[in-house]
Order: sequence, then C-alpha cells, then structure tokens
Amino acid sequence: MTSPRRILVTSALPYANGPIHLGHMVEYIQTDVWARFQRMRGHEVYYVCADDAHGTPIMLRAQNEGITPEELIARISTEHQADFADFQIKFDHFHSTHSDENRMFAEQVYLKLRAGGHIATRTIHQAYDPVKEMFLPDRFIKGECPKCGAADQYGDSCEVCGATYSPTDLKNPKSAISGATPIEKESEHYFFKLGDFEAILKDWLQSGAVQSEIAAKMNEWFESGLHDWDISRDAPYFGFAIPDAPGKYFYVWLDAPIGYMASFQALCTIRGLNVFDDFWGATQAERNDTELWHFIGKDIAYFHTLFWPAMLSGAGLRLPTTVRTHGFLTVNGQKMSKSRGTFIMARSFLNHLNPDALRYYFAAKLNGSMEDIDLNLEDFMQRVNSDLVGKVVNLASRTAGFIGKLFDGRLADELHDPALYEEFVAAGDSIAAAHEASDSARAMREIMALADRANQYIDQNKPWSLAKTPGNEAEVQAICTQGLNLFRVMMVYLKPVLPNMAKQVEHFLHFGELNWESRHELMLQHIIQPFEPLMTRIEQTQLNAMLEENRSTMPEASEAAVPAPVIASPTASIEPIAPTITIDDFSKLDLRIARIVKAQHVEGAEKLLQLTLDIGSETRNVFAGIKSAYDPKDLEGRLTVMVANLAPRKMKFGMSEGMVLAASGAGAPGLFILEPDDGAQPGMRVK
Ligand code: MSP
Ligand code: ZN
Repeated sequence: MTSPRRILVTSALPYANGPIHLGHMVEYIQTDVWARFQRMRGHEVYYVCADDAHGTPIMLRAQNEGITPEELIARISTEHQADFADFQIKFDHFHSTHSDENRMFAEQVYLKLRAGGHIATRTIHQAYDPVKEMFLPDRFIKGECPKCGAADQYGDSCEVCGATYSPTDLKNPKSAISGATPIEKESEHYFFKLGDFEAILKDWLQSGAVQSEIAAKMNEWFESGLHDWDISRDAPYFGFAIPDAPGKYFYVWLDAPIGYMASFQALCTIRGLNVFDDFWGATQAERNDTELWHFIGKDIAYFHTLFWPAMLSGAGLRLPTTVRTHGFLTVNGQKMSKSRGTFIMARSFLNHLNPDALRYYFAAKLNGSMEDIDLNLEDFMQRVNSDLVGKVVNLASRTAGFIGKLFDGRLADELHDPALYEEFVAAGDSIAAAHEASDSARAMREIMALADRANQYIDQNKPWSLAKTPGNEAEVQAICTQGLNLFRVMMVYLKPVLPNMAKQVEHFLHFGELNWESRHELMLQHIIQPFEPLMTRIEQTQLNAMLEENRSTMPEASEAAVPAPVIASPTASIEPIAPTITIDDFSKLDLRIARIVKAQHVEGAEKLLQLTLDIGSETRNVFAGIKSAYDPKDLEGRLTVMVANLAPRKMKFGMSEGMVLAASGAGAPGLFILEPDDGAQPGMRVK
C-alpha cells in the first residue's frame, strides 16, 4: 500500500453576523463529504474552520443589540457550531478569527510583507459620518439617485433606474447609521502590493491548483492588471490593530484566511500535535508532500486565488495545493429570498427534516464545477424518497426480514451470485475517482445504478415466493445474504454522504466499521442485528412545517455576504411620519386596483421588473424596482394597488405609466407589494 496522504482541508469561514442557511450548507456538506471520503480511504485528514468575526457589520450589529462584539460572536459561534454538528459536519476544530492565534499570525504575516517591501501607504478620501464619527463603507450611505432622483438609494447603485455611481454622486446623502450628512475626510491607508506577486501567481495557476473556470477568470484579472489592495480600516473597527499604526485596523479580509492557520494551530495545541510546520512551511522539504485544500464559493474566489496565495508567498509560507470552488444555491430557480420565504435557515431544516436527506440531495447535484445548484423542495422530496428510501433502504428491509425471521439473523455460508458481488466491488474505483473530484453527482448516479441492479436481482430471484415452499430455505438464505452484501458495499460508497445512516447500518450489520477497503470483506455465516427502519419517507407536511417555522423565525440580520445597513437606534428603522396633508391633497392621488397580467425581467436592469397592469378601463406599462423580492412568474395574475395618475416617466428601458405600491423599511430587508382583500376588482378606486 502507498503511504497515506496528509491533508489539511478547510471550508470558508462563515461571517459571525447571522445564522447558517442552506446556501452555506452547500459548501460545508461538499467539504465534509470530501474529508470523510479521504478519512475512509485511510488518509491523515485535518478539517478545520472558524467563524469570521471581524468587520463593520458585526460591530454595528452588536451595538444595535446593546452587547459587546465579543458577546455577539460568542453567541453566534455556539449557534453555528450546533448547526454544523447536527448536519454531521465533522470539523476537527472550529475556531474564531478573533483569537490570540489569529492575532499573532496576522501580525507575523503583515510584518513579513512590510519587511519585504510589499506594503505601501497612501492618503485617500472617503465619506465620513460626523455624528457617529466613523468612515462609511458604500453600503452605509443612502441618498437620492443622481440619475432619476429616486429617494433612499444606496451609495453604489439605484434600485429604481439601475444606475451605478459612487457615493459622492448621491444627492442629499445620509449616513444609514446616524442619518447625518456625510462629509468627505482624508485618511492614510495601508495597501498590499498585489502586483509584486504576478509571476508567482501565474506559476501557481500553472500547477493546476484551480478549476478551469477559475483559471480563465484569473487570466482576465491578470490582463486587467493587479491593483494594490487596501488592507486597513480606521477606528472604530472591530478587528486587530495594525502594528505601528495607531488607530488603524486590519481589514477583515486580511485576517480572515489567516484564520485557517489559526484554527489549525489551535487544533495542534489541543491535540498536542507537532505538525504545524509540516503543513505551512515554505519548502517542499519542510512540508514533505502535505496538502492544503480550500473549499469556497464562487463569490470569494478573488480573495482565495489572488490575495491569499500572494500573502502566503510574501510571508514565506506554502501555497494551497487546491482551491476548489462551487456555485451558488438557488431555491426554486431563484436567488434565495427572505420575502419569498426561500431564505431557509439550517435550524429550520433541522427541526423538521433529516440532515442526511439534504446531504444526499446536495451530493447528488454537486459535480465539482462552479455551476449553481438548485433546491426545489418537491424534487428534493421525490428524489430522497425514491433513491434512498425506495432503492437503498428497501433493499436492506426486504432481505433482512427473511434473515431475521427464518434464520435467526444468520447469513448463509456462500454467496448466491459471487460475480455480481465482484461487479459491485469493482465499481468502487470509479466511484472513488468521482468522490476525489468532488463529482459526487456522478458518484451518486453510479451508486443508484448499483441499487437498481441489486433490486432487479432480488425481483428476479423472488425470495418471497421461494419461501412459501419448504425445501428452498438454503436458496432463500443465499439470495438474501447476497442482497445484504450488495447493500453493504453500497453503504461503503454512501458513507461519506450519509454518516447517520451509515452508523445505524454498522450497528445493524454488526460487522465492524465501513471503510473503503472493507468493501472486499464478505459477510458470510455471520449474525446480523434485527432490522430497524434506516430512513423514513419525507412527507409534504414536514416541508410545510419547515417553511412555516422558517418564515416566523426569519432574523433581521444581513443576507449572506452583503451586509445590509444596520440602523443605530432601534426606532430609526421606522421612517418618520411625513408632514400633514389635507384630504384634498390626498384625493389628488388616483389609486387603482390593478391586475398584474404580465411580469417580466428587463434586459440589462438589475433592479427592475416590467409589469403590464390591467386597471379595468385600460392597461399600463410600469417599471417597478421589485426584482430583488419577486419572481415574475409569481406575480402574474395577482392584484395590487397602483398610482394611476402619476405623470408618465421616461426611463432607460421605456416609458413607465404609473407606479405600484410596495412597503419597505429603512434599512430593513424586504419589499412587499400591496394586495387588496378578496373580492376587489381591477379598476376599483382606492380611497
Ligand atoms: N467570511 C467570508 C469567508 C472568509 S474565508 C477566509 C464569507 N462568509 S459567508 O458566510 O458569506 O460565506 C461562507 C461561505 O458560504 C462562502 O464560501 C460562500 O461562498 C458560501 N455561501 C454563502 N451563500 C451561499 C449560497 N447561497 N450558495 C452557495 N454557497 C454560499 O464569505
Ligand atoms: Zn435612479
């Protein structure tokens, strides 16, 4: 046997400002399946992760809740770890970037970069909140769109007309934190000179460390030039102070990947392992062929394939062996959305459904590429019920029953069809290659083909009819023994994906631990335990209950990586009431019930949907900035309320003849169109 590989595996570090959702789980499940597969093959595997605890959103959220950032990140860490544990994500260690180890490594890396001449300083101009006394990231500035004048737009783009601009272009800009008018202020920033590492990055790219899709992206990035990267932020900031730079902190993305090292160092300390340098040393001799594998989502590839290897190189450390990038999760074909109720939290899922079912579904969809994967709940239920319950569990239950009842749990002395068993064992090489490439979709397809084959075998040999006639006992026992041995081989292949079920199967077969080599071991003349149901069918009622609970527990926290502005005082998220108007003012407004007869995407518009509205007497064409909250298909046929006498407005994409009414909160996520009570008809006036 060749000597075991030594592999350090990581998943990206989840932000400590919100709960784990099913989008995150794509990544943790993909990585965990891979790590478990490698462990089953007998390799030395360390799988580490941590919470990403620094940055402005976390600082502000803690202030909002009236607690310290340390208290916030401690609470979130407990929640994250519980979610991961219940999904059977088997980290060797889960750490925090707000830790002593991380501070030490961040300083070390930075000082190495500085000593190497890779840090520059420059004065930049930035929006500053004079009340809150802090510099404002773009997402924390709101104002009127410089193009169309729409109120309440973010500092980077307009949700109404789709224009993009810089925060200094906004009219009447306001800080989303205090409401104050930002001033421009200068500040000295620290930059990492990424361009110094172009040759090293190009070499690394040649080593095959990334998928072809990322390699193509990297080449584009090289072509457009590698720019200096701003790695500093001014106080107040929740992070690590930069050495010799009073009032300056490391930008969260500087110390985040260093968190991989910190977590591994903490693991070494806990276990008393002396292997840190084996995995991080710069030279091949120090490292002795150890491997470093990062699993990430496509949104953070830039950080992991440019900044991170460049930083490692500049700090005299090793480069990653592989960065494996996956696509994004969509739900029912759409970006996960809070208003549609498809922003499903890990905990909501766990409270109603079996984690192995999601692990299987994601594994069956992930093919090692960067394509997005879709969760369709109907398809999920159907797939799990038909594959796992209908094919895999069924094979065990229909054969174990006879062994238990007729033979006191004892398996036959011989297989009924040794050649068929050999086919199953031989399939292990191709399935292993698929697991290795994170093409678990292919692995699952090949396993299900085996399951079909095994069930056909049972169907053809009909132990239930043989058992009716005395004298056939030996044959029935041999057929069922064959079925259970085939089942066991399949469970070896499924174990990285279904750890819960595999554990139950190990107990039921009572034949030792399943590992990759154990597929060669035949169970003969062996006594198994009574069969117990390994997995039950998913029912629609469970899905409904999960969605219901998810809706009612939706947190206000930010969506995924994009921090939503956080409002400092609890009442500030309610817009103040506008100045009083008279009834005559109000009656100038002609509000009508409208039926959305058609809703469609607008080519090139980021925020807009084009609506065709029937208001009884006529139809209107309206562009509405509601794309982030609605799937056009879901809108068609619905009733809503429109302003019918608003002056038509020429927009980039055509004429907008009115406006639909929707509710939104300053800084609060979501957008909700109004809908009349049952019975209202298009054209009715709203008074
Ligand atoms: N904190 C950074 C990562 C720092 S790594 C040094 C971050 N955190 S995150 O919580 O926003 O995302 C963690 C991981 O989950 C990322 O790899 C991200 O791509 C992945 N996903 C987050 N939402 C996702 C989907 N909807 N679908 C698939 N993966 C998603 O980024
Ligand atoms: Zn605009």
